[in-house]
Amino acid sequence: KVPVAVLISGRGSNMGALIAASLHTDFPARIVSVISDKPNAKGLEHARGFGIEAIAIPRADYDSKAEHEAAVIAALDAAGAKIVALAGYMRLLSGDFVTRYAGRMINIHPSLLPAFPGLATHERALAAGCRVHGCTVHFVTEGMDEGPIIEQEPVRVEHDDTPETLAQRVLEAEHRIYPLALAMVARGEVRMTSDGRAQHSRS
Ligand code: GAR
Repeated sequence: KVPVAVLISGRGSNMGALIAASLHTDFPARIVSVISDKPNAKGLEHARGFGIEAIAIPRADYDSKAEHEAAVIAALDAAGAKIVALAGYMRLLSGDFVTRYAGRMINIHPSLLPAFPGLATHERALAAGCRVHGCTVHFVTEGMDEGPIIEQEPVRVEHDDTPETLAQRVLEAEHRIYPLALAMVARGEVRMTSDGRAQHSRS
């Protein structure tokens, strides 16, 4: 199984979905470490409950972004992580960090990218009158929420949806596609090409 580290900042429900999937014997990846930039992230305790190493590396403990990222990289190396899965990690990574894990770092985002990168995606989808919303797993590149798309799931918008009800159904879809996408990457069924596309192979 390919060793995977998950980076979180909060609740960690997507992390939980990855852990749950990884417990199946035929899942091609195992979660070796969970790292949070927030010491009080709920997901840390959840991960420890599964016997997974879960550590906080708070940004406030470091003088610069570069030093903070160096500490995260040291922890990833120590855990032997081959793939990095961002799961609600609310920090923009530097070009150096992204380059180091090019093709090996993935992110889940609560919209059908390229629509609605950034925050408040459900509010914005409702304000735009979208009838379809959803979620995306993509390879991480330097631009925020811009990398090549690995997997998406559409979610229909109901007439009486609020940002909260819509977020709940999108989150359920996130929990379905993130394990699928991680498995595809771990099996080498999808890879990021040098010109920045996601190439799917049938095997
Ligand atoms: C998820 O909805 C995830 O898609 C989103 O944060 C939430 C984290 O929830 N990520 C982003 O908005 C990144 N741009 P979780 O901690 O329960 O997985």
